[in-house]
Amino acid sequence: MALSNYVELLNYAKEHKITVGAFNALNMEILQALVSAADKMDAPVIVQTYHRHVDFAGADYMKAIAEVASGHSGVKIAMGLDHGRSYDQAKLCIDAGYSGVMIDLASEDYDYNVKETRRVVELAHGKGVSVEAELGTIVDADRTPDEIARGYTDPEVAGRFVRDTGIDCLAVSVGTAHGTYKYTPEINFGLLGELLDTVQCPIVVHGGSGTPDEDVEKMVRMGIAKLNVGTDFFNAYNDALYSFYTEHTPHCDIAEALSSARSAVEQVALRKFHILTRFRI
Ligand code: 13P
Repeated sequence: MALSNYVELLNYAKEHKITVGAFNALNMEILQALVSAADKMDAPVIVQTYHRHVDFAGADYMKAIAEVASGHSGVKIAMGLDHGRSYDQAKLCIDAGYSGVMIDLASEDYDYNVKETRRVVELAHGKGVSVEAELGTIVDADRTPDEIARGYTDPEVAGRFVRDTGIDCLAVSVGTAHGTYKYTPEINFGLLGELLDTVQCPIVVHGGSGTPDEDVEKMVRMGIAKLNVGTDFFNAYNDALYSFYTEHTPHCDIAEALSSARSAVEQVALRKFHILTRFRI
């Protein structure tokens, strides 16, 4: 099956009352694990390359792996750029064949963010590629809940931004953060509800790692369209390799080592999909 774009997956999610898992991968084994879990759960998946990993992995390599995985799979798969830093980075991924890109200029002033996001939308939509952007600040997870709350998305500005740019989905700041939480996150469900009611495009939540399952479940029930998760997979991968090499000699079978890491990532992905598809119709 050819890669699907975000819009196809987000429409599917709305129809079936699920949240799309947007999971980060930077190599073949992680991508295989995510797609295998998606297949087992009969759930669509967006595989994303974090902006810092684009140079490491190679956008063309990641797209080729995703396309092969899609050919082996019965579910819809999209390939996306996560937190793209510039028009040029988005273009690089679009040229490599990605089906979705995020352009994240949330830290820039509003007019610049709108101008650059619109440029990406024009390029992407001309090729059937979907676009995600962000408003508000999604900080790193070592911050306190009060510090996280300072970056909350303003619903009025968010509505205007979506109208001004024509993006396909919007990442919002409602209490989650990126990475490993130092404090238990406090989700502002009231704000999330307001954003879901007023913003005219699907809503994306980032920082899915370590967010309590009951909070994720509540956000899924409320109707978030896409949940981003990265750190939990990378930690599972590292932990599995660490324990494998603790138990084996360094010159052991490398395929066995990588298999253990791949299986560990798949287990985490299966648990995420269970929550994201819990209210499926
Ligand atoms: P985590 O690494 O905290 O899961 O965040 C992932 C993310 O939001 C990527 O955009």
